[in-house]
Amino acid sequence: PVPVIAIDGPSASGKGTVAARVAAALGYHYLDSGSLYRLVALAARRAELSLDDEPALAALAACLPARFSAARVMLDDEDVTDAIRSETCSVGASRVAALPAVRAALLGRQHDYRRAPGLVAEGRDMGSIVFPDATVKIFLTATVEARAQRRYKQLMEKGMGASMESLLKDLHERDARDAARTVAPLKKLPDAVLLDTTKVDVEQAVGFVLDRVRS
Ligand code: CDP
Repeated sequence: PVPVIAIDGPSASGKGTVAARVAAALGYHYLDSGSLYRLVALAARRAELSLDDEPALAALAACLPARFSAARVMLDDEDVTDAIRSETCSVGASRVAALPAVRAALLGRQHDYRRAPGLVAEGRDMGSIVFPDATVKIFLTATVEARAQRRYKQLMEKGMGASMESLLKDLHERDARDAARTVAPLKKLPDAVLLDTTKVDVEQAVGFVLDRVRS
């Protein structure tokens, strides 16, 4: 079977950066599964669907006109790379991600990314539900303080204001929500390797994952 490297972990753990770098180093395909939930949230808002209307949201997810080209995310012919990162889409994504029918509707689409020579898939349930037979499973995390600090730095670099206090509060809330939900709750699997990046930089984290893949 085509190899899959599954990288799961909480918000702002740096898994996106690490996963994309690992995929580039191996020449593998890359799946950012969180962007699918963000796209459903955005498309739902455009279609004026209620975020409680599970059947309608699942139907939308099943035929989402989404494409990923280079580092851009497209919905139909519109570039929505920045739009899906908005606060509204983040909140909407976490709500639609809690709906079993939406998750089920996105399953086949995620499986389609598994193509030769291999796939690096990143999210919350890559190793548990979407690719349970993944070759390597990594649980990438960092303390909530380290994650808040990284997000703070990112926002500052973009010239956007932020307060550490509100970032910390937001991450605490998101962690609690992700761990408490009944579908695909975030937790480390017994067969996943823990990678705590609190004191580890991106280079070292990428090296750690590549060592696991090659061993
Ligand atoms: O890093 P952050 O949580 O801000 O964003 P993300 O990884 O893009 O995920 C967006 C939302 O989708 C979050 O609320 C996740 O809990 C959810 N998600 C999920 O339920 N399953 C996945 N495989 C990926 C993301």
